[in-house]
Amino acid sequence: MKTMNTQNPSLPFFDITRQYKEIKSEVMSTFEKILDAQACIGGAYVTEFEKSAAQWVGAKHAVTVASGMDALILGLKAIGVKAGDEVITPAFSFFGSTGAITWINAKPVWVDIHKDSYCLNVDQVKKKITSKTKAIMPVHLYGQCADMDALMKLSKETGIPVIEDTAQSIGASYKGKPAGGIGHVGAISFYPTKNLGGAGDGGMIVTNDELISQQAMLLKNHGMPKRYTYAMLGSNSRLDALQCAYLNIKLKHLKKWNERRAEIAGQYIKNLKDLESKGLVLPVTMEGNKHVFHQFVIRVKDRDQVKARLAELGVPTDIYYPQAIPDESVLKEFRNPAEKFPVAEECAQTVLALPIFPELTQKEIDTIIAGVRKAL
Ligand SMILES: Cc1ncc(COP(=O)(O)O)c(C=O)c1O
Repeated sequence: MKTMNTQNPSLPFFDITRQYKEIKSEVMSTFEKILDAQACIGGAYVTEFEKSAAQWVGAKHAVTVASGMDALILGLKAIGVKAGDEVITPAFSFFGSTGAITWINAKPVWVDIHKDSYCLNVDQVKKKITSKTKAIMPVHLYGQCADMDALMKLSKETGIPVIEDTAQSIGASYKGKPAGGIGHVGAISFYPTKNLGGAGDGGMIVTNDELISQQAMLLKNHGMPKRYTYAMLGSNSRLDALQCAYLNIKLKHLKKWNERRAEIAGQYIKNLKDLESKGLVLPVTMEGNKHVFHQFVIRVKDRDQVKARLAELGVPTDIYYPQAIPDESVLKEFRNPAEKFPVAEECAQTVLALPIFPELTQKEIDTIIAGVRKAL
């Protein structure tokens, strides 16, 4: 179970209540209208959010669904991935990227990640393509995009579609192109801790392809184009009106919030840069990327000791993620033991996330910087 880690009130790793204060009165009055009308499923608030979110993300179509995981699952199905097909994805991510593939009984085929971007290493993708490969799923980890030019070139050459796991990267862009709208389909998460977090679970499929968007609309609503008429086997993955209204209110602030994250990241980098000589690895924004710093992840050799020292200094940290995906025991049937993922495995031992959210105060930022300097 993911936790939101809001325990330490003095300097929290993440505190969503601060952001909520900014939007509370608008949320309350909007919720009252929806609840008075009891217009909870579908309707204007859903279509309005989908329209503004598509525009905001820079994609032609947006289809809201119940979670980021469902966006991946239904996105994979919408591009035609079936049981037994292979999907290439990175060996280092939140489990859900691979989990979506296994959930539809397709086979995850892992590639290692790039040591600077933490996103999949495109050079390795080519070697893993077989006649069974039916999709490539890069993950735009921590808030920046994978090398999408190289990936889309490969996709064009091979005809294999690309589904972007954009759960962590709404608002990021690659060479001016918005994350999620570069490949054939993008999957976004509105889990409350995300840069655009809902008041609960939520997700969205974005695409520039009309057919994929139609497929997704059907898949999320029982496969039903018309009442009690079924075009395919579907599910119920509708995002309700309250969530869409909430997200639409927050969407108006997202640009500012993402900019503040990047500004905080800039302060960390500027004030910790000299510690690189002591083995600290700071995040690198790859050329052409706009990074939205969903997480600010550093790497240190003696990670667990540094984490403990920071905790003593009142600086909470977290680990995203403590294990490379192929090393998870529940995935053993898919793992070829001879295969190695050295970068993913090293990252699992060394990554450490510092607090980053738009409402951090300057005093807190200074405490975090001073803490890291002391701990190292
Ligand atoms: C990279 C990645 N993929 C998929 C997901 C799944 O999203 P959700 O939690 O909304 O189902 C997440 C959420 O943490 C994620 O970070």
